[in-house]
Amino acid sequence: MKPARTELLVPDEAGLARAAAILRAGGLVAFPTETVYGLGADARDGRAVAAIFEAKGRPRFNPLIVHVPDIAAAREIAVMGDLAEAVAARFWPGPLTLVLPIRPGAGVSELVTAGLESVAIRVPAHPVARALLNTFGGPLAAPSANPSGRVSPTSAAHVLSGLDGRIDAVLDAGPCEVGVESTILSLTGDASVLLREGGVPAEALAAALGAMPVRPDPVNDLRPDSPGQLASHYAPRGTLRLNAARPEPGEVFLGFGPGGGDLTLSEAGDLTEAAARLFGCLHHLDEIGAERIAVAPIPSDGLGAAINDRLRRAAAPRD
Ligand code: TXA
Ligand code: MG
Repeated sequence: MKPARTELLVPDEAGLARAAAILRAGGLVAFPTETVYGLGADARDGRAVAAIFEAKGRPRFNPLIVHVPDIAAAREIAVMGDLAEAVAARFWPGPLTLVLPIRPGAGVSELVTAGLESVAIRVPAHPVARALLNTFGGPLAAPSANPSGRVSPTSAAHVLSGLDGRIDAVLDAGPCEVGVESTILSLTGDASVLLREGGVPAEALAAALGAMPVRPDPVNDLRPDSPGQLASHYAPRGTLRLNAARPEPGEVFLGFGPGGGDLTLSEAGDLTEAAARLFGCLHHLDEIGAERIAVAPIPSDGLGAAINDRLRRAAAPRD
């Protein structure tokens, strides 16, 4: 579903109400944060989140940052320990993203977390971002509002130069103050890990943490929770055979298109639906104890590229 034209919205009451209505209908709205413009969708709506990847032309399902209006809303989605509470109290609202254990039943689409048990979350400081979150009344998944591989946008004009006609609307509030993305700090393990440098300097974090956060080792960058590697982390326990016309005896069939399967990514052969259902299906295969899984061929155009990338990683040999 590609909008014919992108609405340029003024962030007054009417513009915010319009933006919230588009988001409630599953649409995409670019909005300013203090770091860069984000491309927002309802984080609870798998199809809306799939549309983010389609609009950006992202070849992979990297996990996305969830934006919420305040700490109370963050607590509903993530499990916040003492350290997270302390850091959040000091830096939110602001350009800091925390990676935390996801709260069971948080309601966030698995496409947002890429099927992981952690979630990246932040409370932005920009008044228009906050007004939009409050008017919309739910969590917004938002990567930077640029086509994949292009520079992050710090003005509505930048957003339009890359995504005009591919998203429903952009809220124009002029240039972003910080201009670089948020700092990403993981508090999921024993150590505090700095996954990305950004708007909050590491030294400032160290003061709140009581110690300097660990930086991922660039030589040994195989840690599962570093942004680059992370998308390959989640795979079902069973083995996958891709591009299978039909299942062999003993295989569970994950279908796509008419004819179904034991379970299907999309009976209608719709790639947006398939993307939205992908991680749920992979989890379901674990739940039913599938040991050998045959996956129907998925076209590789549009969102199919990211779906196939994920399936290839899940099918790759592991130890
Ligand atoms: O400033 C920002 O953070 C902007 C504005 C729009 O908020 N957003 C942004 O999003 O930069 P994006 O999608 O470009 O970057 C998200 C980063 C990725 O590197 C991703 O791997 C990491 O966050 N990330 C998301 N969830 C994660 C998780 N559960 N564990 C580790 N890293 C995660
Ligand atoms: Mg980005």
